[in-house]
Amino acid sequence: MKRACILFTITTVCILAGVVCHAQNANDTTGRKWWKEAVVYQIYPRSFKDNNGDGIGDLKGIISKLDYIKSLGIDVVWLNPIYSSPNDDNGYDVSDYRNIMKDFGTMDDFDALLKGMHARGIKLVMDLVVNHSSDEHEWFKQSRSSRNNPYREYYHWWNAEQGTPPYRYSLFDVNHDAWRYDSLTNAYYLHYFSRKQPDLNWENPRVRNEVHGIMKFWADKGIDGFRLDAFQFAAKDTTFPAFPRGFEKNFTQYYAMQGNLHGYLQEMNREVLSKYNVMSVAEGAGNTFEDAHNLVDANRNELNMAYAFEGADIAKPEGYSLLHLKQVFTKWDSAFASKGWLSVFLANHDQARLVSRYGNDKPEFRAVSSKMLTTFLMTMRGTPYYYNGDELGMTNAGFTTIDDYRDVQTLNEYQRQKNIGGDLPKYLQRIAFESRDNGRTPFQWNGDKNAGFTTGTPWIKVNSNYKTINAAQQEKDRNSTLNYFRRVVKLRKDNLALVYGKYTLLDAQNPDAYIYTRELDGKKLLIMLNFRDKPVDTQTGIDVSKANVLIGNYEHPSKDGKLLPYEAVVYELK
Ligand code: GLC
Ligand code: CA
Repeated sequence: MKRACILFTITTVCILAGVVCHAQNANDTTGRKWWKEAVVYQIYPRSFKDNNGDGIGDLKGIISKLDYIKSLGIDVVWLNPIYSSPNDDNGYDVSDYRNIMKDFGTMDDFDALLKGMHARGIKLVMDLVVNHSSDEHEWFKQSRSSRNNPYREYYHWWNAEQGTPPYRYSLFDVNHDAWRYDSLTNAYYLHYFSRKQPDLNWENPRVRNEVHGIMKFWADKGIDGFRLDAFQFAAKDTTFPAFPRGFEKNFTQYYAMQGNLHGYLQEMNREVLSKYNVMSVAEGAGNTFEDAHNLVDANRNELNMAYAFEGADIAKPEGYSLLHLKQVFTKWDSAFASKGWLSVFLANHDQARLVSRYGNDKPEFRAVSSKMLTTFLMTMRGTPYYYNGDELGMTNAGFTTIDDYRDVQTLNEYQRQKNIGGDLPKYLQRIAFESRDNGRTPFQWNGDKNAGFTTGTPWIKVNSNYKTINAAQQEKDRNSTLNYFRRVVKLRKDNLALVYGKYTLLDAQNPDAYIYTRELDGKKLLIMLNFRDKPVDTQTGIDVSKANVLIGNYEHPSKDGKLLPYEAVVYELK
């Protein structure tokens, strides 16, 4: 009798477990994973903290700030490239994938950094830049040296006897021509980015094998993940068909997800990713939801997540429509509601500053709008990627002359405008709003010289507002954007509903406020965000007068559905 009972119990548990397992498979979005529950903090090493006074941030500088990083409550650091590089594109042109850029330090520094992070329970994700290498990489030196060199097929060459190659658009080149003629072998090589960033030939199994070796090298050191830079462009149709005139206006349609890209990722997963406890994220998610799903659906064994640009490309100098932003984020959420996983972000090292683009950087609204945007990023489904300095509400650089800029893309486009007789003052205005350098000015640690970033001359100017916007001052202020960031990160960590919960848009047609609920296992949170510099009314049909306020960016959060300028509130509904 007793036995039968035990048997019965076991069977029941198994059946129940089966149901649970089945339920998880049916919705793989809500299947728990550490990388879904993580908050990722992105560090741009060149601008974070300089330790030796040469004006360039370095690994020892990051090590000296590990306690600060830990204090944010984040789980994962994504570090922009730190490999050897001639720095044509600030490290996105790698000349040796197994070494550290001299400006940044040594491999011993790297080992110490990784150890220091792990000791604090922080994981490290590294950039993997393998759509292209530097032209100073040994592979390319060999490849260009002769047509018969064993490394020739590591890159894409077009022999001049065949005539001029079919036009390809380069994102960074001063002429936007992605083929560069090399007289040494009378041939052209392909570079989607700058001429110092030749594209690798992924059709060559030796190239893929090299990349797997590089990934294993870093994974064996114990890193926790890879961010695949520009990888959606890696595979090409190497017959190089002619593209229609004007294709460059929509070049991702022709560049992204071509050829055997998915095959290469499945092979990478088999050979490397599946063998380590690492996360993987692709920059770019193709052109359609189908592309994006094909990258990240768990049963395909490619990558864990991807970040799509649509949401982060909405802000324009003339402003943007909140209805559009809501529509884009809602659409992406619903496409991934039961399968796959995405990242959530509005800023990174390729964008101008979060508060200057999506919020309001005027002194009276800067802090409050920056907190509102942080609340948004931390309450959406998907893994949030948060860019260093945004927790202080750092703003655009305020550069007025081209001499202040350092970015290859910004500078080459300026040169191009000059060459074609373009409107230079207008261009300067545009880059003041959108140049990548806006997000790359030194981190503002304190009110001392150079914002405490360096004792030397910084490689790029410090924002002149560092005396009012800096970490030291914000540490002292309970209500600073920095301390708000810590609280809202903690809120996300304490509420699985914010990670996995169902997202429902409310008051959808409200042009000024973004309102949604997140629901999981009977817990329901309501998030209300005012994107305007004036009070706005909302219509949710929910009485919040008795709801529990979990966080808000005003001392007395709204209890009647009216939101103050840039107000953000998260309620728990009964
Ligand atoms: C990615 C990087 C960007 C870089 C480009 C070329 O878009 O995020 O910073 O310039 O790839 O590597
Ligand atoms: Ca330095």
